[in-house]
Amino acid sequence: MHQTIKHASDGIPLHLLQKTQFSSWLATQPPSVKNWLNSTQYQGNGLTLIPDSNGELACALFCSHDLQGLFASADIAKQLPPRQFVLNCDAQFELNAAIAWGLSSYQFDKYKKIETPRATLAMEDGAVAQRANHVINATCLVRDMINTPAGDMMPEHMANTVEAVALQFGGTFSQLVDEELLEHNYPTIHAVGRASVHAPRLLDLRWGDQQHPKVTLVGKGVCFDSGGLDLKPSAAMRLMKKDMGGAAHVLGLAYLIMSHKLPIQLRVIIPSVENAVSANAFRPGDVLQTRHGISVEVDNTDAEGRLVLCDALSEACNDKPDVIFDFATLTGACRVALGTELPGFFSTDNQIAQDLMALSENNHDPVWRLPLHKAYRNLLKSDVADISNCAATPFGGAITAALYLQEFVAPDIPWLHFDVMAWNNRPLPGRPLGGEAFGIRSVFDYLAQRYGA
Ligand code: BES
Ligand code: ZN
Ligand code: ZN
Repeated sequence: MHQTIKHASDGIPLHLLQKTQFSSWLATQPPSVKNWLNSTQYQGNGLTLIPDSNGELACALFCSHDLQGLFASADIAKQLPPRQFVLNCDAQFELNAAIAWGLSSYQFDKYKKIETPRATLAMEDGAVAQRANHVINATCLVRDMINTPAGDMMPEHMANTVEAVALQFGGTFSQLVDEELLEHNYPTIHAVGRASVHAPRLLDLRWGDQQHPKVTLVGKGVCFDSGGLDLKPSAAMRLMKKDMGGAAHVLGLAYLIMSHKLPIQLRVIIPSVENAVSANAFRPGDVLQTRHGISVEVDNTDAEGRLVLCDALSEACNDKPDVIFDFATLTGACRVALGTELPGFFSTDNQIAQDLMALSENNHDPVWRLPLHKAYRNLLKSDVADISNCAATPFGGAITAALYLQEFVAPDIPWLHFDVMAWNNRPLPGRPLGGEAFGIRSVFDYLAQRYGA
């Protein structure tokens, strides 16, 4: 469950102040408020509740030394009593405060009734409330998809989710299921997904005006990654319901694009499979043909993400978009390099990469560029096929995975690949434990600045 921000003016005033504004704000307050804050020794730090003369709640006050930060006021949504509050702060802080409220009050309650009622937030500026709600809805869509157990988020369920979002915004949805993948030449997606009783699919969402520039998103939709015949040990398998995180990310990003009506022609391509173990599973040593025509030797069935992505990326290049973004929970190595809270990205376009890095700081949604270091390409040499799906060494594993994908992207189409964790390992303000979106606010902001919102 998540909370959206109401467009209303009734509620208990919630004052958010930069610490430097506190003394001038206090000077404008009636004696009862001054006396209360004085007698409770409130110094202008954090949250306090202020009563009226009857002992009823008159207003709430939160001061921070840096209200600019997106998550500065995030935790107050959980600390306030379950009443409706109305936001009262400088216009420059309103949007972030509202987004933070919504992101912080998220709870995954699909399977567990959560009884504690929560405070709600209203704001008088309807346009800001709507912008905040777009971000809250998109992020919570990503979180819900990732948090949903694999048994309830298999390719057929994911297809329903993608279709529902497409229809919500007047887009179109199509899919290829099981044998159709072979008929339409998506051999790697079929090979990875064929061992599951949940048939593999290619999900395809299109939206927007054909006159507008094309942007294509590709997301890794591995609904559960057991590792395949190269079975993961239990600790490594435990969180692998999140291996469709890339798919969730691109759907969340599509939600942002469509809800803001960005003037682009959008396509979202999601290879959706379960990497399961069965008698007909693909094997280490198998050689797969790809949509692109390159043959791949399967060195490790646990490097399945790049296999399903490579056919999707080939298709993405077919209609020659302006730019391709892919998101994937692709490698543990990227987490070793950057930790779990900083997504790595690779780019064939220096300008886009620079613009994105600069933007990401302002969006409080950091991303970090890693190199497509060409010299490591020969680590993917195979004796029997054009390329191996996995290097023999784990060192530089995020880079070799990205270099593998690059083989399938037309050199004249700018391409950015995001290797994300898709999961909060520890709770932070506004970021509860569990499924999480990384980098989509930054990429959306890049697109909004480039194509105009
Ligand atoms: N889904 C995993 C990658 C992953 C693991 C991402 C943990 C985030 C957290 C991926 O399919 C995988 O298993 N990759 C292997 C690649 C290796 C076999 C070359 C990995 O990272 O160990
Ligand atoms: Zn894997
Ligand atoms: Zn995987």
